[in-house]
Amino acid sequence: MKANIVVLPGDGIGPEVMAQAVRTLETVAKKGNRSFCFTEQLVGGCSIDAHGVALTEGVLAACQSADAVLLGAVGGPKWDDPRSGVRPEQGLFALRKGLGVFANLRPVAVHPSLVEASPIRPERIEGVNILVIRELTGGLYFGEPKGREMRGGVECAVDTLEYKDFEVRRIVELAFRLARGRKKKVTSVDKANVLESSRMWRRIATEIGEANPDVELEHVLVDTAAMRLIASPATLDVVVTENTFGDILTDEASVLVGSMGMLPSASLNEETPGLYEPIHGSAPDIAGKGIANPVGMILSAAMCLRHSLGLEAEARLVEKATRDAISDGARTVDLGGALSTREMADEVIARIEAA
Ligand code: IPM
Ligand code: MG
Repeated sequence: MKANIVVLPGDGIGPEVMAQAVRTLETVAKKGNRSFCFTEQLVGGCSIDAHGVALTEGVLAACQSADAVLLGAVGGPKWDDPRSGVRPEQGLFALRKGLGVFANLRPVAVHPSLVEASPIRPERIEGVNILVIRELTGGLYFGEPKGREMRGGVECAVDTLEYKDFEVRRIVELAFRLARGRKKKVTSVDKANVLESSRMWRRIATEIGEANPDVELEHVLVDTAAMRLIASPATLDVVVTENTFGDILTDEASVLVGSMGMLPSASLNEETPGLYEPIHGSAPDIAGKGIANPVGMILSAAMCLRHSLGLEAEARLVEKATRDAISDGARTVDLGGALSTREMADEVIARIEAA
């Protein structure tokens, strides 16, 4: 069977890292005698330029009927005017919501030979392997009302943090299921001392914890979690949290692994195609230079092999080739090396071919 993969390179460094992820998947396909059909489409700023919107209905429909969707990055200074009604990020949100991918898995595994690349002391981060599960289709990103208006001569801006009970239940239940295949420990992150939504989150997480006594559950306030992520990251295994907290904590977590360019993600829902994107952004400062780290995007493609295409062995192959390349010293500039985006991918691809 031919897998249909929609490829959304997006803006900035998105197209540069995407080209390498596609090459990697093509290598995997050739090696295993499989075939993937890639269809490239627009999202983000490039879609605004071409169509006036960050995601057209046609592209969303193509994504909904694909087997999986790969996304590079969206955004850039060109589309940053705060007065503009259209923003590149809207494409991302329309895609996440339109695919219903509520579970965003962000694995954070410290590579032994990159321990020195992190500003955190080696003994604190050695062996760190965390799975952050970020709720992706609720919370502040989508809550209504949302907007800005003048009230009695005062400009007011509002965002709404809303969760429905079933949205919390399904993501925390997923955290427990995934924890069973790991260290059987779930850290639920909230701000229950302040937020109503967090108090409901904590109550539901507690209920799920009571129903699953084989998995240890701890509740941690998000400010404390931010501190623990740096001070004692090895005490964390599966971390589950709401949309905005997960966004912030995963940028922080990228400091542990040496570079933002390293981290992949998978956005899932059992019934729809998965969406795979690195956690980094479009990095306009280095776009077009061919120096971006492609590892986050390549590892996102590996997650796509695993979660959407049912190719676990191939996923592991890509992950091992990436780890081995790094162990052997392959580094892009963000990690203090000199390899270009393409050369870094060459190192990974050569190891897949040789395996
Ligand atoms: C991420 C990014 C996005 C988010 C931005 C680009 C809107 O930071 O995927 O982490 O906030 O979700
Ligand atoms: Mg982010």
